[in-house]
Amino acid sequence: MTNLLTQLEQTNIPKHVAFIMDGNGRWAKNQGQHRLFGHAEGVLSVKAIIKTAREIGVQYLTMYAFSTENWNRPAEEVAGLMDLLVQAITNETNEMHENGVRLMTIGDITALPESCIKSLNEATDKTRENTNLTLVLALNYSARSEITNACRSLANEVQKGIISISQISEDLITEKLNTSGIPDPELLIRTSGECRVSNFLLWQLSYTELYFTPVHWPDFRKDEFLKAIIAYQQRERRFGKTSEQLNDTK
Ligand code: IPE
Ligand code: IPE
Ligand code: MG
Repeated sequence: MTNLLTQLEQTNIPKHVAFIMDGNGRWAKNQGQHRLFGHAEGVLSVKAIIKTAREIGVQYLTMYAFSTENWNRPAEEVAGLMDLLVQAITNETNEMHENGVRLMTIGDITALPESCIKSLNEATDKTRENTNLTLVLALNYSARSEITNACRSLANEVQKGIISISQISEDLITEKLNTSGIPDPELLIRTSGECRVSNFLLWQLSYTELYFTPVHWPDFRKDEFLKAIIAYQQRERRFGKTSEQLNDTK
């Protein structure tokens, strides 16, 4: 058992952790391997993080697996990533189901290859009622498109007279996003040293704690995840208040 577990404050486990899984390519290159080797190893990190999340009681994981911008990569890499996705879903769905994991997606999956759509739909249908942990895969995801679509949907409702302009609220916008019903992440982890958000969850991250680590995604396993949560637990989330105000109410 890792002793980092004993450092965790059980009463302050984030409900929702989001991940920008970065660095598969660099990790592979460092070993003299093809980029896809890094992506395949990255799938094992996803498995390790799901297992740890269940162990410590994180309820939602959102994983950025493919951005709308990632279509600009070499066709061979895109195809390899799509194959890997189908393979991972095919191999892992039964175990996820047995462990009470619900799979969801955000992003426009209709633009993915037919085989991906099919395996994703089957896996999300099968695991729909599970309640131990929700795994949200962001696929062909763009936060700006998500917000744009929410605006369109609200404009449409105004035009049809279903709602008035004054009824448009932060809650209503939140409901129109792909993540409707999912609480905002308390913690965002980005691996591999890049300190940017890359069009991920722009609305939902407004008060999220950001954690950047130089570790590449294929090396990000249980202990790295626990270290990130311990770092999160040491932060003071002030939400605009002063530190004194927070300590007064303790
Ligand atoms: C993250 O690793 C995986 C995806 C974006 C699909 P990268 O493939 O971006 O790895 P680097 O950034 O090139 O090292
Ligand atoms: C962001 O990673 C998207 C995913 C993790 C799927 P990238 O590696 O593509 O991000 P940028 O473009 O370098 O910021
Ligand atoms: Mg990258």
